[in-house]
Amino acid sequence: MMNDLEKIKLNIVDSVVRNAPIIGLRNPMIGAGADKHQWIYPEEYFWTDSFWTGELWLAYMVTGKQELKNMARMRNAHLQKILNTPLWLNHDLGFEFSLSAVADYKLTGNLKARELGLRAAEALRSRYNWNGEYIVAWTAGAEDKAHAESVQGKIIIDCMQNLPLLLWAYEETNIESFKQVAIGQAETSLKYLVRDDFSTYHTFDFDPVTNKPLRGCTHQGYSDESCWSRGQGWAIHGFAQVAMMTGDPRYAELSEKLTEYMLDKITDDMVPIWDYLLPEHETQFKDTSAGSLTSAGLYILSEYFSKRGQKDKAEYYQIIATQMLLALHQNYDLTQQEGAQGLLSNSASSVPHSIQRNLPNLANAMLPYGDYYYFEATLRSIGHTKFFW
Ligand code: GLY
Repeated sequence: MMNDLEKIKLNIVDSVVRNAPIIGLRNPMIGAGADKHQWIYPEEYFWTDSFWTGELWLAYMVTGKQELKNMARMRNAHLQKILNTPLWLNHDLGFEFSLSAVADYKLTGNLKARELGLRAAEALRSRYNWNGEYIVAWTAGAEDKAHAESVQGKIIIDCMQNLPLLLWAYEETNIESFKQVAIGQAETSLKYLVRDDFSTYHTFDFDPVTNKPLRGCTHQGYSDESCWSRGQGWAIHGFAQVAMMTGDPRYAELSEKLTEYMLDKITDDMVPIWDYLLPEHETQFKDTSAGSLTSAGLYILSEYFSKRGQKDKAEYYQIIATQMLLALHQNYDLTQQEGAQGLLSNSASSVPHSIQRNLPNLANAMLPYGDYYYFEATLRSIGHTKFFW
């Protein structure tokens, strides 16, 4: 088994090294299509901007190749620009800066990168509504007033991944408010985004003036009351990571319950369909990004229990994580495929938007976050425990 996992790691590293000169300074956004394994890039900015950078840092971490470090650092001007562009600021700052500036600081001790990471954490903290106790997920410009209004009181399950930036900033500075905001958002997510049966909403709306809770929505899932599999993955990984960073066992218990729900619904091949409550008559697109993300999260859960001497649980989550990882490897791994610029096929960015906009690649293509978490899960599977979250 260990050899298989080592082999996956080597193939991933080969792919990253091979594709680094092709990708250059660009930041992959999404693959071109089901059988078109080339990247499409955003015109200027997208929330996905640091996943490739995260892969470069992981590859640097395991190889020590200086050119990978240099390639990753070449994104710094873009990171500065993100912080200086108010309409680009949203809850995704955690993804964007944990996998770039924080990675740089953690791996190399670069103090400028630390400063950049702390500035990003401040920007994320500033999105917190202290009265409602939530981080406002999105920012909208003036071109669509109704949309702008609707996002004022919106939180999102994906934001669980962004709380480690705040917890890291707290560890670095001892400034209490970073931690307060992270915990406040985790608690509000637990209360409103997680349903009684431990499935999840994608987003939840509050009245931005009174902060009265209004409704849950699932924009990228099948329906508001369904369970978008990537959202469930964001929650499994996110709560496990917050448990690791705070030591609060309630978050680990929650991650376990979310996992139980996922295990009850996942197909026998252990690769998620894009929504765990998708009716049979709908096209059963896979979302390998949900698979890699969930696998990485279960390794964190395993590590959490291992550190507390709970060997049975540690082993249980390790086994499931590995089953999910190997399932991806066996059926969707592109690392050996000539010309493929990414690691995994068959990710679903957003099936509803694919249908609305008639863009097939939104339902089935490579995704940079699917790839990043595939790399993370693979490294966790062979015992790495130091990451950028
Ligand atoms: N964070 C957006 C997504 O998961 O598609």
